Amino acid sequence: MLSEICGKLGIDFPIFAFAHCRDVVAAVSKAGGIGILGGAIHTPEELEVDMKWIEAELDGRPYGVDLMLTGNFVDPTEGQSLDDLLPPEHVAFLDDMMDRYQVPETASDRGDPQGRLGETRFTAEQNAELIEAMFRHNPKVFVSALGTPPAEVVARAHDRGMLVGALAGKGRHAVYHQKAGLDFVVATSAEAGGHVGDIGSMVLIPEVVDAVAPLPVLAAGGIGGGRQMAAAMAMGAQGVWCGSLWLTTVESDTLPLVKDKLLAANSDQTARTTCFTGKYARFLKTDWSDEWGAKGAPEPLGAPLQTHLVGDYIQRIYTAAGSGQATPESGAGRLISSPVGQIVGAINTTRSSRDVVREMVDEFAEAVSRLSGLVEDA
Ligand SMILES: Cc1cc2nc3c(=O)[nH]c(=O)nc-3n(C[C@H](O)[C@H](O)[C@H](O)COP(=O)(O)O)c2cc1C
Repeated sequence: MLSEICGKLGIDFPIFAFAHCRDVVAAVSKAGGIGILGGAIHTPEELEVDMKWIEAELDGRPYGVDLMLTGNFVDPTEGQSLDDLLPPEHVAFLDDMMDRYQVPETASDRGDPQGRLGETRFTAEQNAELIEAMFRHNPKVFVSALGTPPAEVVARAHDRGMLVGALAGKGRHAVYHQKAGLDFVVATSAEAGGHVGDIGSMVLIPEVVDAVAPLPVLAAGGIGGGRQMAAAMAMGAQGVWCGSLWLTTVESDTLPLVKDKLLAANSDQTARTTCFTGKYARFLKTDWSDEWGAKGAPEPLGAPLQTHLVGDYIQRIYTAAGSGQATPESGAGRLISSPVGQIVGAINTTRSSRDVVREMVDEFAEAVSRLSGLVEDA
């Protein structure tokens, strides 16, 4: 047992694996860490199916669920839909982009699950259904992606013996979580994939640890192995929370074309941009982010409008890229992206999730014993 939070959850290693893919979640929990299922693009029915499957796989071992609980999103006024709020010039910009990159129209089915950015569940109503689905099952951890979860959800989770956490990109956000009675905070630094602030891990981890002590803090962003894990824990974190690392694993359902792009990418090939969701998020830098950054391109909209605007186009790109005929040089192959952090530069091979966990633990032990040796020699 490496930290207090391991004891509370009954896990061997404080390695939290965020993934939208249930196979990764189950594989990491089986390997002694804990898998956290990202449910933001699941329907309530899909979330139920996945939780049921995970629980059958894990036979009592712990896992968690993460939802995107957002308090500060504009809802259209009555009588309006989000479509009414989309500026025609933005729609024309994207239509033109699809033409220039020759991305075919998508048939009316829901397409590849990973292309469902436009279906991200943000509103209270959408989340209410997902939360009910979650409480019909037995995850041991609930985490809120974008904000402090409502008091009622925290109370219900606590009644069921769950630990509740939330992501924070600043010390003061972590303090809001602490005041709401959460059990841990995930300090998410600027290197991270997905929604992200702008404070680097060397500054953020001790800032958050000091702001909420003695509340347990997990470190997220830029953690690819045991050396980073040791550094994060040296700065006071009780464990690590990783997302990018699992995208290229054997179990991950990432499209093969995207997996190849991730395996080939360097650490400078990500962009912290609002052009996917309207909030700053780190994604793989591709022609999509270049097009939005080009002279004459419209400014990305705010959240949730940008997600709504780009949703169908992203789905078109994913469907074309997943068709089997797409190459990295095709239009869809050049546009397609994925949330991913700067650690992508160090992810160069496909490994099983179990090996990722084991290698992280071994490297952590080596790093700690090297540092202890320095103290003994002094
Ligand atoms: C593909 C992908 C999707 C993500 N989606 C979410 C999400 O829905 N909810 C959430 O809390 N975090 C999400 N994140 C962020 C992770 O929870 C985590 O903070 C981040 O991946 C940590 O940094 P790393 O990518 O350097 O490991 C996502 C990250 C990735 C890579």
